[in-house]
Order: sequence, then C-alpha cells, then structure tokens
Amino acid sequence: MNPVVDYLRISLIDRCNFRCLYCMPEEAELEYLQRPELLTSAELLTLLRDVLIPCGFTRFRLTGGEPLVRSDVVEIVRAIAAFPETQDLSMTTNGFRLAEMAQDLYTAGLRRINISLDSLEPETFDRIIGSRGRSRWQQVWTGIQAAHSVGFTPLKLNVVVIPGVNDHEVLELAALSIEREWHVRFIEFMPIGNHDLFGQKGWIDSETLRQQIRERWGLTEAQVKGNGPADVFRIPNAKGTLGFISQMSECFCDRCNRMRLSADGWLRPCLLNETGQLDLKTALRSGMPLIDLRAKVQALLDAKPEINFKMRDSGTTGAYSRTMSQIGG
Ligand code: GTP
Ligand code: 5AD
Ligand code: SF4
Repeated sequence: MNPVVDYLRISLIDRCNFRCLYCMPEEAELEYLQRPELLTSAELLTLLRDVLIPCGFTRFRLTGGEPLVRSDVVEIVRAIAAFPETQDLSMTTNGFRLAEMAQDLYTAGLRRINISLDSLEPETFDRIIGSRGRSRWQQVWTGIQAAHSVGFTPLKLNVVVIPGVNDHEVLELAALSIEREWHVRFIEFMPIGNHDLFGQKGWIDSETLRQQIRERWGLTEAQVKGNGPADVFRIPNAKGTLGFISQMSECFCDRCNRMRLSADGWLRPCLLNETGQLDLKTALRSGMPLIDLRAKVQALLDAKPEINFKMRDSGTTGAYSRTMSQIGG
C-alpha cells in the first residue's frame, strides 16, 4: 500500500543567513532567486487554498533556505494556520532569529518547530555554520530557549553528524533530551550540497550512534508527534526523545508521504528525483484555470510512487547538484 501523501514542505526562500558546511559548497557562490521569481505570499496562499489543499495536503512545514529571513513569514504562518483543513503546521529553522520571533510565530499559530543545533561547542558550531567573526552559538541557544519558553511542542533539535567534526559530541547532545522535553534528532550526512566534504569525511550510520548511547544509558523505543522519517527512541526516564534519520543506511523512500514546494513555485515529488516536477508559479501567472492545475497535481500524486527515488536499489543518493538550502531540506 502506498502511503497517503498529505505532507507538504514549503520552502519560503532559498536564501540563508548561515553557510553550513554540509549544506553548501565551500567556495562556490550560490545563485539566489531574485524577488520576482519567488512566489508572493498571495500566490502561495492561492496555490494552497485552491490547488494543494483540495488535492489532499493538510500538514505543512515551512523551510528555506532559512524561512525566518523572509520578511512576511509571520503573515504566512497566520494565513496557513487559519485554513480549516490545516492539521499540522511546523517549521524547520536554524534558530538565529528565533529569540526575537518565537513569540510572534506562536501567536500567529505555529505550534511546533525543528531547530538545527549541530554542536554544543561554540567554536565547532561556528565552524559548521561558516560564521566568520562574531560567534553565533549563543544567539541560537537563546533562540532555542525562547522557543521552549513560548511553548513550542514538540521542540526538536536537528544534528547532522559529520565524522571528525561533531561526532565526539553525540553523547552530550543526546543528554539534552534527559532533563528537558527536547527531542534531539541525529541525521545521517547525505551527499547533497557539499560533495567534497562528504567525500572526505563520509557518514556515520544511526545504529553506531544508538550503540554508543545504549552503552551509556540504555535506549527504549518511543514516539513523538511528527510527519518525517525519524525512528524514535528514549533514554530511560528522559523527558524528551532521540530521533534517528537514516536516509543513508535505511531506505525510507517507499514510505514517503511528502512533496515539496520550492520558493519559486515548483512542486517536486521527491527530494532526489526531479522527474515530473510542476512549475505551478508559471501556470498560475499565465492564468491556467485552477481546475486544470488541480488535475496536474493529482496526476503527479498518482505518479509519485514510481518517481520516488529508490535509494535502496541505487545504493546512493546520486550526484544531486542542488543544495538543501535550494530545495528546502
Ligand atoms: P517532523 O514532522 O518533525 O518529523 O519533521 P521532519 O523530520 O520531516 O522535518 P525536518 O525538516 O526536521 O527534517 C529533518 C531532516 O530529515 C531533513 O533536513 C533531511 O535531512 C531529512 N529529510 C526530511 N525529509 C526527507 C526526505 O524526503 N528524504 C530524505 N532523504 N531526507 C529527508
Ligand atoms: N545531509 C543531511 N542533512 C542535511 N541538511 C542539509 N544538508 C544536509 C546534508 N548534506 C539538513 C539539516 C538541516 C536542514 C535544513 O537540512 O538537517 O537542519
Ligand atoms: Fe545551514 Fe539550513 Fe542554512 Fe543550509 S539552509 S546553510 S543547512 S541553516
């Protein structure tokens, strides 16, 4: 049985105020979308209300680039939260602007949030996010605390584990889930974005991390609200959980329940395979009747199981040339 596809990851902007090691090639300048190429908030909301929600999407995650660098993000949250069909609205952010924005986002109707936190060591953190000059660790940490105080729940912290860069911190990062209801997720490094770094460092499989954690504290299976592919565990008696996103060691393509809408309006059926993608922005701007647009989206939904990247068969994520900031993670 193919899973129901009702989860849409909406990239609001391809720009980001960080340059994470694993996400972007080191030297290359990325070509950012220009303003007229981005969907306006009105276009985005029309597509959601008249095309995507009628096709069955009810769970939404706002991503980027960094979604909080888009100036109308709070209004967009408010409008999506107000659709009666919206069952879940969440965001993935690097946390840098959360200290100032957490309350407004919550008031606008956002209820859960995933924040990247790749290291607890300010120096390592700054190296990973490519911060030149002033350290940004404290600002992100303050943002995480702000999200916690405002009431975002579940509050998830994402860690991309890179051998020789932050893998020595796995136990300390896991320990964040013990005292607070924070859900720490370890993500296997994928060959997307910075292929050179991937070639040099490789990746660590989730089971190796679980083994380390099991030896220190033990680990039991658990659950937490979410739409993504994480396998969830808990350190006995911990308040929060540990999630493992294992796209390299375990193919979860056949349980894929999502599509992606890029900031310039492409509806993509798969993170790693662009076959069949639809240019909804151009169709909308050229005045294509909404009923025809719905039919196209429906046809793409029907074709998705065939399009889904078969990581298990190929044994690789291929030579994907876009970065996660361009495709929205
Ligand atoms: P929850 O609803 O909280 O479960 O969110 P999520 O895990 O779907 O969202 P998040 O943006 O935090 O995703 C974490 C990471 O999972 C991403 O940055 C990717 O590395 C990975 N990921 C998410 N979706 C996919 C996917 O469709 N394919 C692959 N290969 N990786 C994915
Ligand atoms: N491998 C795994 N995850 C990645 N992300 C970005 N690039 C990669 C990669 N090469 C994820 C991180 C970040 C999110 C926006 O995208 O989890 O938190
Ligand atoms: Fe880092 Fe996300 Fe920005 Fe990429 S898009 S540089 S992963 S914060």
